Amino acid sequence: MRAVDIIEKKRDGKTLTRDEIRFIVQGYTAGEVADYQVSALLMAIFLRGMTDAEAIALTEEMLYSGEVIDLSDLDRPRVDKHSTGGVGDKTSLVIAPVVAAAGVIVPMISGRALAHSGGTLDKLESIPGFRTNLSLTEFRSMLERIGVALIGQTAEIAPADRKLYALRDVTATVPCRPLMAASIMSKKMAEGITGLVLDVKVGNGAFMKSEDEARKLAELMIQVARGLGKDCVALLTDMSQPLGSRVGNALEVIEAFEALRGNGPEDFITLCRELSAEMLVLGRAATNIDEGRARYDELIASGAALEKMREIIVAQSGEPRTLDDYSLLPTARHQRVVKARRKGYVQAIDTEAIGRASMLLGAGRLRLDSKIDPGVGLTIAARIGDEVDENTPLATLHYNSAVLMDEAAALTLQAYQIGGERVEAPPLIKAALR
Ligand code: URA
Repeated sequence: MRAVDIIEKKRDGKTLTRDEIRFIVQGYTAGEVADYQVSALLMAIFLRGMTDAEAIALTEEMLYSGEVIDLSDLDRPRVDKHSTGGVGDKTSLVIAPVVAAAGVIVPMISGRALAHSGGTLDKLESIPGFRTNLSLTEFRSMLERIGVALIGQTAEIAPADRKLYALRDVTATVPCRPLMAASIMSKKMAEGITGLVLDVKVGNGAFMKSEDEARKLAELMIQVARGLGKDCVALLTDMSQPLGSRVGNALEVIEAFEALRGNGPEDFITLCRELSAEMLVLGRAATNIDEGRARYDELIASGAALEKMREIIVAQSGEPRTLDDYSLLPTARHQRVVKARRKGYVQAIDTEAIGRASMLLGAGRLRLDSKIDPGVGLTIAARIGDEVDENTPLATLHYNSAVLMDEAAALTLQAYQIGGERVEAPPLIKAALR
């Protein structure tokens, strides 16, 4: 078999066989198929798509490119949550401690910033000292001791995805249903979980822009999970404006810490509560969603979730005082307020542009080897439906380097569509696929 023939076949819109998919996945993981050939194939898949059978084969080949962790000896339900990626989405930082505080094991293997979307690992690493590169032995030992660990993909877990994820990030091939399903599910199915809650984002800040596309992605991922014997549910949730009011790594960590104290923007708190309730049900810590919500409220009010976060930070070598003193987290040296140019109502926000502005400031990667600046990002002042006057602040940019600052400020201003009529923000939870 030759990579060039497989690229040509997909370029011409044909269906790949499992053997061909295996050849590429194994060859790329072993360093025998070059980046440039895989880049071309990714673009061909992006443009031509894949059948469900091809996507399932790709997921399985990526999953078995590495180790599948067996945690069955822990003898308790093990549930994770995964988001398809958005702007300001820091729910994992709240949900993991909440659900673990209820006694469900949460083995969470997360990703880094991808295109305009943020990544849980980059957020966690803005906590001084916090290690996300735990070995599988450390991961397992944390799960045994405190019931939760938040780590990055180790060399053993879905190594094919590790390489493909980074390549897709810089070849404009992220928003592609089969590639996303395979990427997400190859990692998640390797974690040793019994159940998975998927947060499939929909809207102009998500990779899936329409509800129909998002639903198809959710159905494909549920099919993969159930095929491998896991419980799986998906919520389709709104991403037509940033989630919460902070975008950028340390800024989002602060918002998550506040949520663990019960404070914060309503959309963000609601989503944390809904996703946690789903996880608590899959983890048998609640018999239904209402009970799950009540459990969430209790774990926040009692401080149990906050204390679980402290245990996580200590166990992963982070500075636990950051939980009480946010000045110990990285901050940007400068701020610039972007103001409305006219009076009216915020009718729409180009959320992807907000994500790109944050990336330009240094919160995400423009190249494979770009270094993240943990203190930078945006705080969002105006949301869809808000009334603004000329000069009302829309957002504040937090930055260290002025190099791409003007571009980021212009993107932010253009992202706000202001008009004469008030509009309602779209509902946060669009559908639950159970
Ligand atoms: N998250 C992932 O892990 N992979 C994707 O492709 C998109 C979001």
